[in-house]
Amino acid sequence: MGASLAVTEIKAGEHPVVLGPDALRMLDRVLADTEHSTAFILGDENTMRHCLPELLAHVPQLRMAKTLSVHSGEKAKDIAVCSDIWRHLAAEATDRQAILVCLGGGVVTDLGGFIAGTYKRGIRCIHVPTSLLGMVDAAIGGKTGVDLMGLKNMVGVFHDPLGVFVHAPFLKSLGKRDLLNGLAEMIKHGLVRDAAHWEAIGEAALHDIDAIAPLVERSAAIKAAVVSEDPREAGIRKLLNFGHTIGHGVEAHSWESPQRVLLHGEAVAIGMICEAWLSWRLAMLERESYDRIAAQLLQLYKPYVFDSAENHRMVELMRNDKKNENGRFRFTLITGIGSAKVDVEITAAQVQEALEHYRLLIRDAARTHSDQA
Ligand SMILES: NC(=O)c1ccc[n+]([C@@H]2O[C@H](COP(=O)([O-])OP(=O)(O)OC[C@H]3O[C@@H](n4cnc5c(N)ncnc54)[C@H](O)[C@@H]3O)[C@@H](O)[C@H]2O)c1
Ligand SMILES: [Zn+2]
Repeated sequence: MGASLAVTEIKAGEHPVVLGPDALRMLDRVLADTEHSTAFILGDENTMRHCLPELLAHVPQLRMAKTLSVHSGEKAKDIAVCSDIWRHLAAEATDRQAILVCLGGGVVTDLGGFIAGTYKRGIRCIHVPTSLLGMVDAAIGGKTGVDLMGLKNMVGVFHDPLGVFVHAPFLKSLGKRDLLNGLAEMIKHGLVRDAAHWEAIGEAALHDIDAIAPLVERSAAIKAAVVSEDPREAGIRKLLNFGHTIGHGVEAHSWESPQRVLLHGEAVAIGMICEAWLSWRLAMLERESYDRIAAQLLQLYKPYVFDSAENHRMVELMRNDKKNENGRFRFTLITGIGSAKVDVEITAAQVQEALEHYRLLIRDAARTHSDQA
């Protein structure tokens, strides 16, 4: 046994999530102790450039690994890309004892997890998330998949990684927009589960990665705990849908005009404003809490401008979302900062009211700005 490492290990359903300054050293030990044939590292051009050297510096066990690189971006989550990699693995006579290390954001871990879950009916994979969204959300929980005909995550499998190793310093090369993208999920974790976490995020200096590392770990732990309580999404995992019902409608709406496409987290931030407002409207949340939540989100995320006539289209897009059964909307709303309630039925008219509220809110905020200027 070597020296003890500064790591915390938590369970996310069937797999561990390893956090702390020595997470990558722990990965090195795990690889040394796990019998395997070839190791492959899958990444995209950004993670290969910014993260691979650091990974290899901390994990000597991977120095002989073969690398596989895909183009960055959501387009890589495509069955044709899987097919290329399956062929490549087969051409290299890769056997079932191989290990695939996924080094990247949610795109790489979703894609790599799916490839690992299907090649020869499943080989082992390890996730090393490098984006904030990956660290606090996408890499944890064993959901994998690719997109089909423009629809997200249409084809996939549950495939638990051997482990998820979270090394927060990778975030130093991540752009600000991608940082805010992941931050929206962290804010959500605080709102549905942990008031102190939400407060701490509000006070954090986001550019200081060393300072936010403990908050990243706290969020990863919340995601892991929720997954453990409900590994196959039967109930309590719906807590994590807060902000996502309206958020998905707004996200899909933004794709219809290429000049204003939102990232997932940016749409979820708007969804959280609308859904916190609905929580207040239904007398579940105090007005003061709603006001604080809206103020925080409006300060961090750019406004999404649309006309009243477009509310209807967003509701229509929400109806197509696979999570809304029989055209009825079941929301996860909040009952306070740090607590939530799942399966609250909401009508289309109430959703439109919430969108209209957001529309007027950002219009008034813009007016106040120009009055002050
Ligand atoms: N499986 C799940 O449970 C789950 C949950 C949430 C999201 N997702 C999926 O995650 C994906 C989005 O994840 P994402 O936002 O991480 O996207 P991403 O993987 O595309 O990463 C965003 C961008 O950041 C770059 N990048 C990543 N790490 C970097 C680093 N350390 N330094 C510099 N650049 C870096 C990437 O190359 C990419 O350009 C979506 O496809 C979504 O469906 C999956
Ligand atoms: Zn999300």
